[in-house]
Amino acid sequence: MAKYGHFENDGREFVFTDWLTPRPQLNYMWNARFLSGVNQFGGGEGAYGGRAAAYIDPDGKGRCSVLKNGARYLYIRDEGTGEIWNPGWFPVKNAPDAYECRHGLGYTELTAAKDGVEVTLRAFVGETEPAEIWTVRLTNASTAPRTLKAYFACEFELSGYARYSDAMSYLTGEYDASRSLLVCYNRAQERPHDWFNGFMAASIPASGFETSRKAFVGNYGDLSLPLGVKNGALTGSLAACEPMLGALEHSFTLAPGQTAEYHLLLGAADCMATAQGIADRLFAPGEIERQFAALTAQKSAMIEDTQIETPDEKINCIVNSWLKQQVQLCAEAGRDTGKGFRDQLQDAWAIAAFNPALAREKIYETLTKEYSDGRCPRGWLPLDHHIYSDGPVWIAPTINAYLKETGDYAFLDASVPYLDEGEDTVWEHILTAVRHSSEDTGAHGLVLARDGDWNDSLNLIGVEGKGESVWTSIALYFALHNAAEIARCVRHDAAVEAELLERAERIRSAVDAHGWDGNWYLAAYNDDGDKVGTHTEQEGTIYLNSQTWAVMTGIAQGERLEKCLHAVDTRLMCKCGPMTLSPAYKTYNPRIGRLTGFVPGIWENGTPYCHGGTFKIVADCCVGRGDKAYETMLKILPDSAENPSDYSGCEPYALTNMYFGPENPRAGQTQFAWVTGTAGWMYRAATQYMLGFYPGYGEVRISPCLPSHWKSCKLTRRFRGDTYVLCVENPNGRQSGLSCLLVDGKPVDGD
Ligand code: GLC
Repeated sequence: MAKYGHFENDGREFVFTDWLTPRPQLNYMWNARFLSGVNQFGGGEGAYGGRAAAYIDPDGKGRCSVLKNGARYLYIRDEGTGEIWNPGWFPVKNAPDAYECRHGLGYTELTAAKDGVEVTLRAFVGETEPAEIWTVRLTNASTAPRTLKAYFACEFELSGYARYSDAMSYLTGEYDASRSLLVCYNRAQERPHDWFNGFMAASIPASGFETSRKAFVGNYGDLSLPLGVKNGALTGSLAACEPMLGALEHSFTLAPGQTAEYHLLLGAADCMATAQGIADRLFAPGEIERQFAALTAQKSAMIEDTQIETPDEKINCIVNSWLKQQVQLCAEAGRDTGKGFRDQLQDAWAIAAFNPALAREKIYETLTKEYSDGRCPRGWLPLDHHIYSDGPVWIAPTINAYLKETGDYAFLDASVPYLDEGEDTVWEHILTAVRHSSEDTGAHGLVLARDGDWNDSLNLIGVEGKGESVWTSIALYFALHNAAEIARCVRHDAAVEAELLERAERIRSAVDAHGWDGNWYLAAYNDDGDKVGTHTEQEGTIYLNSQTWAVMTGIAQGERLEKCLHAVDTRLMCKCGPMTLSPAYKTYNPRIGRLTGFVPGIWENGTPYCHGGTFKIVADCCVGRGDKAYETMLKILPDSAENPSDYSGCEPYALTNMYFGPENPRAGQTQFAWVTGTAGWMYRAATQYMLGFYPGYGEVRISPCLPSHWKSCKLTRRFRGDTYVLCVENPNGRQSGLSCLLVDGKPVDGD
């Protein structure tokens, strides 16, 4: 377990007791217009729009990255001693005497003390205004009066669009002394909208400011000891055609025991008047505390909606609060690559269980990106026209899950435009997609891979229009069954149901006949008709996804089921979970895809890629392998026994997309967490597949699949307006299979 921190408050907060983590540990906070990241220094690697998605402009005309280099820090200067320090240690690196940073859901609170001065910083993003809200509290805990200066500083990036001219030509700073509010403008004509200005404001009068970076740090200076802080005096610079930095200085004389408190805003605005309006609204008496209380109430409601109680405290902590927060972030903010067609649907699939309104919105938005012939682009914001074969197969399962969860059957009749032309109902969008996929097949009757499948980097198997994806074919089988279930249970359309099942049978026999390699399922056939993921290859011999999906969909049966599970267990498992493929490619193969050119053990090239790993947990549960499911879950969750966060660098409260693979010198380390489809699948794996609560059309099915040592566990879950409490007793240490089921104390037959 990480030595630098621990969970508190039922896991709702992660508390850092040491700032020296392997990499900055981000917490995200956001509203519909602003996305921010705060790390354990109080800085923000990533910050608004820098990491996750083209968020600030819903029309996708370019996001504004407000913060540069993660640089947003508070400096404290002791006027008596000249001592300079940051409550979060960085970037001055003058160690505080006491330090604690508390990441909660949507807020961070950092407390530090040095030489009898205590500082608390709290950051969150409020309901609607495009700004971070910081509250600073300074206390003189010593016995003598203290004179202090506090400097809040942030380097402004103000970019996020293609630049054709010298970016410096359009930059200026302005200061409104009446509000202690500065604005740094980028007025480049090529900026796609007007919100490329950053502002900073304070709730009490500032004693100084800068908008020029050079004025703040000094000639050749840097943020580790800015000249202005060193001198204890800012110059009031108005930046012009130079790197911009906003800094506000506040001066205090505090008697022993006295505390000063004030608020700071850091945000984006289209003009000075907008920034002033934001400051006036947020600095109205009581407004910031009201918004903070609303945030915590909203997060409590989210947490309490579904609760698991298992013997594993860490799983409880993560699933009950942080995982929901992560799914919520992914669904609302997307990925660094924008909004992926498949990603949005998988997020919606998971979030349907605790935020169905958002799920509906995501599904609707995604369907507007489907072409009228059923093809689906890779994603949007910006639109990526690559046609990945898997887009269509995510639609039916996601909507099926949404309908079962909500009973919102009218959604099927909602009219949704296609990306190119025309519009049709949601139900027709589903049918268009699966019909298209099941016709878009190649020489083996398998689905044509086109630009790839779930695996983005398997991007050259099918560009000539002949390569076929075994995995997409299996996923299509699943999608057709989901669509057929909707036809049967909601549309009551036996003819369409029969048509869909017939299509499913066709694809299944193609997988049976041509997808099997003797001991596991193939990944694909490429444009040359060569097998990918086959025993005769030295690299990329076996791929994970075809195995896990063949298991979870029931395509793998009997001896094939045993064999492909054995292959996964013996060839693909490593200490951080199941690998995408093995062995990693070392030789670039332009007939397979860019993954073969990656350094071995990064991204899809032979790594425990957590998103794919969660498919394996679900697959294990589908065949009653509770112990294996649990073992894999523990490997994938951050801060595992075998790969603690002190080494992996993964935030202990957020799931990562990928651990470096065993063939990479950085095996087990991570690059980032938070934005990954792993979250949604892990959430469903835990709450649905392990705890065993399966919403249906006319029923709920109970079918837990647990590690055998869990003697009891409990799920409390909102479902269609009621709260269900599911208590699972497992005195005999089984992994699956109900011996009896009591509803309100009365035995019922079946599940
Ligand atoms: C990234 C993408 C996801 C894709 C995966 C594998 O995580 O966001 O859509 O499935 O890579 O290529």
